[in-house]
Amino acid sequence: MAFLRSLLGLAVGAVMISAQGNTANTTATYTNPILWEDLADLDVFRVNDTYYYSADSFAFSPGAPILKSYDLVNWEFIGHSIPTLNFSDPTAYSLEDGQQAYVRGVWASSMRYRPSNGKFYWIGCVDFNQSYIYSASDPTGEWTQTGQIATCYYDCGLLFDDDDTPYVAYGNTNISIATLNSDLTAQVSTTRIFNGTFYIEGSRLYNINGTYYVLNTQPASREWTLKSSGGIFGPYEQQILADRPPSGTPGSGYPHQGGIVDTPEGDWYYMPFIDDSQRAAGRPQSTCTHSGPRNLEGFVVAEADE
Ligand SMILES: *[C@@H]1O[C@H](CO)[C@@H](O)[C@H](O)[C@H]1NC(C)=O
Ligand SMILES: *[C@@H]1O[C@H](CO)[C@@H](O)[C@H](O)[C@H]1NC(C)=O
Ligand SMILES: *[C@@H]1O[C@H](CO)[C@@H](O)[C@H](O)[C@H]1NC(C)=O
Ligand SMILES: *[C@@H]1O[C@H](CO)[C@@H](O)[C@H](O)[C@H]1NC(C)=O
Ligand SMILES: *[C@@H]1O[C@H](CO)[C@@H](O)[C@H](O)[C@H]1NC(C)=O
Ligand SMILES: *[C@@H]1O[C@H](CO)[C@@H](O)[C@H](O)[C@H]1NC(C)=O
Ligand SMILES: *[C@@H]1O[C@H](CO)[C@@H](O)[C@H](O)[C@H]1NC(C)=O
Repeated sequence: MAFLRSLLGLAVGAVMISAQGNTANTTATYTNPILWEDLADLDVFRVNDTYYYSADSFAFSPGAPILKSYDLVNWEFIGHSIPTLNFSDPTAYSLEDGQQAYVRGVWASSMRYRPSNGKFYWIGCVDFNQSYIYSASDPTGEWTQTGQIATCYYDCGLLFDDDDTPYVAYGNTNISIATLNSDLTAQVSTTRIFNGTFYIEGSRLYNINGTYYVLNTQPASREWTLKSSGGIFGPYEQQILADRPPSGTPGSGYPHQGGIVDTPEGDWYYMPFIDDSQRAAGRPQSTCTHSGPRNLEGFVVAEADE
């Protein structure tokens, strides 16, 4: 049974730090939050010994910043999945003719690695209308637009399944999973997998040893898990993953809308972000946090912070 170490606590935790190309292990500590940056709606995944983090960038171009880490605590910026915000309204995105596209950029998107061809993919819905796909052989670039699908995969989570089929979980309240064609240029089919009874969004999709999980946030305080042992299309049962966990940042909102990732040793971590309107003008500053042991299979929840 694996442990899900969520990244939420006030507590100082221990984490294994392993340097690139260095087999030596050293034990270090970390405190939450681990990042003081506006890097909301994150997706996190691991390829071998390297963790990648993809985030929102809203109005900014280039879009969809990518960070890299070897220990989930120390992160560095390595590039962007979207070289230029142009999408279907390039005049507005390039601020020509007095036009603008403020906040019509990148949010709640997903980035993953595809083992079958060694490429990285980014997918996200823009303007509640079109979904765009960008791809790169090296996450530091060059990224190119490789697809556009005339469907909004709202708050999407990408999964390359064990048989290499690309799936995208998306939606709010009601959650669907679309099957894409092999080169991610078209939708093959889409299936409603869950009819919600309250508002959820921010899907992240995982196949963990043949069990499928869709993480969703109930903004902006709880993280829920849909779990299916009967295949990717369900049936799914909904259980709480984290309920108003502590943030480590007095006065902030609750950590929410993140992803889970395992270490090479099999420990699981949950990485959410925080809205911190106390410390930023305009859009809330967001941070990303860590803490201590959770049980993935049992859906044991973080303690409420109130
Ligand atoms: C690092 O330490 C962990 C825990 O002690 C151990 O399981 C793992 O094998 C070590 N990794 C390396 C590369 O030495
Ligand atoms: C990950 O490790 C496997 C096995 O060593 C290797 O074939 C693959 O190229 C590595 N992937 C990346 C992205 O480094
Ligand atoms: C946006 O720019 C990319 C090159 O970065 C180009 O491939 C794509 O066609 C452009 N899209 C639009 C809508 O102009
Ligand atoms: C959505 O995109 C289509 C192009 O596929 C375009 O014709 C339509 O105007 C767009 N709708 C909105 C509301 O932007
Ligand atoms: C969810 O689906 C139900 C039908 O099962 C529908 O009545 C409801 O309007 C949908 N809600 C949303 C937010 O799409
Ligand atoms: C969702 O609701 C629709 C309409 O009521 C129904 O047809 C569908 O079977 C439901 N799907 C799930 C997964 O519950
Ligand atoms: C998945 O299977 C591997 C190998 O059997 C096991 O080590 C690991 O704990 C399993 N992971 C989970 C989350 O159950």
